[in-house]
This record gives sequence, structure tokens and C-alpha cells, in this order.
Amino acid sequence: MKIIKVKDYQEMSQKAAELIIAQVKKNPKLVLGLATGSTPEGLYKNLIEDHRSNGTTYKQVTTCNLDEYIGLPKEDHNSYYAFMKGHLFDHIDVLAENTNLPSGEKEDRSAECAAYEALIHEAGGIDVQVLGIGGNGHIGFNEPGTPFDSLTHIIELDASTREANARFFNSLEEVPTQAITMGIQTIMSAKEIVLLASGTAKVEAISKLLSGEITEAFPASCLHQHPNVTIIVDEAALNENK
Ligand code: PGA
Repeated sequence: MKIIKVKDYQEMSQKAAELIIAQVKKNPKLVLGLATGSTPEGLYKNLIEDHRSNGTTYKQVTTCNLDEYIGLPKEDHNSYYAFMKGHLFDHIDVLAENTNLPSGEKEDRSAECAAYEALIHEAGGIDVQVLGIGGNGHIGFNEPGTPFDSLTHIIELDASTREANARFFNSLEEVPTQAITMGIQTIMSAKEIVLLASGTAKVEAISKLLSGEITEAFPASCLHQHPNVTIIVDEAALNENK
């Protein structure tokens, strides 16, 4: 596990963008695993800026997002589909047909889970997966207790996750109670993983992660078993903001 310590959110976002841009240049057909949330917003802004000023192209890139809420229509502004369109896809030259998120709207949920796994497999597997981390250690929506051998599945969101995400909704009641998420094994199958963490809300999660203990009670701890993980973490998340 490689740890890159940065000053703040801005530097975290820049470093992450540099890393992704270098990979896209090296392999124009990159399969990029993407995340939603406040953490990667700055990364996406940097990718858009670079695309506009330097012309980095995503025409042959395939993207696969980690997760989606169950029960929100795609068009809802809180869906992760809408997030990705608004924060990235509409502003770079990635082809809409090459952008993928699991669907939270399918009636046959287990078929959708299997189909998403098959899609990732057919794309050749994820080359680089971007991750945030929940205060409870979740990656994607894999809440504490999720088996390390899990594939894409439906999960009940933790109360703490719903509370953390309530800031985007009118009320806590509006936050969906379930999501579809890549499993831990799906994430661990990525060739490279980049986890971003910024701000004091992540101090406990980062300290637990860096303690090195591996347990399903703390999902992100699985990353210690992956050969190519980079953590880009700022001083606030490391509790070094004096
Ligand atoms: P955040 O969420 O980026 O909005 O903090 C991270 C996560 O819950 O994985």
C-alpha cells in the first residue's frame, strides 16, 4: 500500500488527476472504475480542465461506476447516474455507450447484479479503480460485515451512511435505504486501486485503515491484501492539521 500524503483537498484532487491522466495516456482503452460522493468531485474537475486545455481524450475509455441507489429514477438529481453525467461525462469526450453504472431500477435485481459483473468481465476487467471511503470504512456501498468474497449485490445502507448522505436530500427519509454495489471481490479484482480521503470526517476511518488490521467489520481493510493500492490522503484526514 503506497501512501501519498498531501496538504489539502485541492492537492489530493490534483495528484489523483495526474495519476488517472497518465494511465489514460499510457492506455487509451483504459477501463476506469469510478466513484461518486464529495471526495472525487475535485478529481473530476481536474480531468475536465485537463481535457479542455490539453486535449486528453477519453474516446476509447470505458468507465464502470461502483454503485447506485435502489429506487431513484436515473433522472433524479440524486442518482449516481445524474452525478456522473453532471460532474464528468457531459464535460469530456467519453462515449455515453462506454459509461456504465449498475442500474437501481431493474425489477430483477439479481439478474442486474450478474449482468454488471459480466459487463466488467467483458470489458476486460477494471484497470484503475477510484475509491472514496465512508466514515464507517465502506468502499463502494459495501457496509461493515460485507464478505470479502462478495460480487455485485444489493445492500441495506447503514444508518450512518444514510445520515452522511442526507445532506444531498431534502430530508433523511428521502435517502434510499438500499443500493446496488460492486462487491469487495469485484473491487479487489481491479488491477490498480486509488483511494482518496480528505477532511476531518475521515480521521477515524483512515487511522483504522492504516492500523493494518484486516477484518470484514472494516471493509476498506481488504485493500491490504491487494498488490497495487495507492492512498492519497490529506493532512486533515491524517489528523495532522495543526
Ligand atoms: P464522500 O463519500 O466522498 O461523500 O465523503 C465517500 C463514501 O461514502 O464512500
